[in-house]
Amino acid sequence: MTLAALTPDLVAHRPDTRTEWWRHAVIYQVYPRSFADASGDGIGDLPGVTARLDHLVELGVDAVWLSPFYRSPQADAGYDVADYRDVDPLFGTLADADALVARAHELGLRVIVDLVPNHTSDEHAWFQAALAAGPGSPERARYHFRDGKGEHGELPPNNWESIFGGPAWTRTTDPDGTPGQWYLHLFDSKQPDLDWDNPEVHAEFADVLRFWLDRGVDGFRVDVAHGMVKAPGLPDWDGHVAMIDGSDGSHAVDDVDGSGNHGPMFDQEGVHEIYRAWRRILDTYDGDRAMVTEAWVEPLSRLARYVRPDEAHQSFNFAFLAAGWHAPSLRRVITASYEANDAVGAPTTWVLSNHDVVRHASRMGLDDPTHRPNGIGHGDEQPDAGLGLQRARAASLLMLGLPGSAYVYQGEELGLPDHTALDDDLREDPAFFRTGGAERGRDGCRVPLPWEGDAPGLGFSPTGATWLPQPAEWADLAVDRQRGREGSTYELYRAALRLRRDENLGAGGLQWLDSPAREHVLAFRNGGVVVLANLDDVDVALPLDAEVLLASGPLADGVLPAATTAWLRLP
Ligand code: GLC
Repeated sequence: MTLAALTPDLVAHRPDTRTEWWRHAVIYQVYPRSFADASGDGIGDLPGVTARLDHLVELGVDAVWLSPFYRSPQADAGYDVADYRDVDPLFGTLADADALVARAHELGLRVIVDLVPNHTSDEHAWFQAALAAGPGSPERARYHFRDGKGEHGELPPNNWESIFGGPAWTRTTDPDGTPGQWYLHLFDSKQPDLDWDNPEVHAEFADVLRFWLDRGVDGFRVDVAHGMVKAPGLPDWDGHVAMIDGSDGSHAVDDVDGSGNHGPMFDQEGVHEIYRAWRRILDTYDGDRAMVTEAWVEPLSRLARYVRPDEAHQSFNFAFLAAGWHAPSLRRVITASYEANDAVGAPTTWVLSNHDVVRHASRMGLDDPTHRPNGIGHGDEQPDAGLGLQRARAASLLMLGLPGSAYVYQGEELGLPDHTALDDDLREDPAFFRTGGAERGRDGCRVPLPWEGDAPGLGFSPTGATWLPQPAEWADLAVDRQRGREGSTYELYRAALRLRRDENLGAGGLQWLDSPAREHVLAFRNGGVVVLANLDDVDVALPLDAEVLLASGPLADGVLPAATTAWLRLP
């Protein structure tokens, strides 16, 4: 097969002359407990992040998003917040957070922090007060407390399931030891959902926003952004709750036109009022503060409603993540993403990995690379590591060639796979426990980073301690082993990010190029660069006059091998 005749096809997106940083930024996700540990307890912390910010400058990203570091009992690794205005002692102090932001700004990096508004921890002062105050109290009205059904209130108020498995309701015990009311939790029982019909909740979060904006953060990543408002009366629903269809291990449905997540707990009209209010707050600050929503909403046109001009600035594009490794599906998702976001004037974002999904180097090594199990463990199908890495590098180079804003999850720049053979007794993800182990959960993508191949704990911590063990093969993937090594994944990302900046690809346009190989190869032009991604297992011949700027794997004899992406200059 040959790419000799690349012919101009559909223009899916036009260049963007607007200059706000978030329109074109590459944003690096730091998962604080696994990035770098300064204290030596085996859990990463904020001073560890600050000490390693140079790595991100060397890599060439524009901004950092930090997963939660707030005071928390860590029932869901910090997504269960007990105090939104303080740092958990595990991660440091408020002064450490200030130092991190200051150092990042000195280095020219923006900082986005996580905001978790759908639920608090059950150890939050509000929930403790609600338990103490009893039924009908204003304290309980900040959450969803209800009497149970059945003769003695012994049945949950409705049939909703928790996304982590089991019922979405837990019954409380009254001070005299008798069973009391139930409370709603879409996630773990230690994460009670707030009632966003209550104005006090709105006021509290507006204040939390200002607290962090005043400390100088450049914006927020909003957790479960489609879940805060529930349908009136909390009606029963027989659908299946997952963050998106397929995240529970079944096959991804059609995220482009699909109609997932329309249950009474997701994507209700009222959430948009919240984003409008928050946008007004952000707009009163200088410096283009931005907000990105984690909204697992389908179809893409519905997701785009979160990024209308007076709402959030960006939304994660999980349809792209879910499209797997299949040229026609990816072409369709990419085109539909621009169509939906351009219609509201918002940038399109791209993401392949994060702290909730099996890393793309492992997903793409599965027999079916669109399969997205919630974790991989002993006894499960093990990915083909070599093929997974080759495809992951090709997918990353495809992603970084796309106009818009891209998210890089810590460690993907090293080509890290998941830990796919973690002992079940080391797992911490509540999803593992609440499903009785049927889902392995997300620990495998949260293993501490390897910095130095020869150091204990691969340089993650000064004592060698790591809260989860690192696979032995990771020594060779450590930053120091890959730095300066020709062809390493780390150097591939660096080169791609440098070229992306030099060629202004983030602000560019996308014109598809057609060829006889269109079923196997994605081809498009972004400004002066032509991106070709061969997703199949056949080699294709490159155009004769192509100058190769960068490739995700070795190219020989004018051929673009299987599972390889190349950036070319064509005359
Ligand atoms: C989001 C987070 C995930 C967390 C959940 C509940 O999906 O990314 O890690 O478990 O929300 O807060």
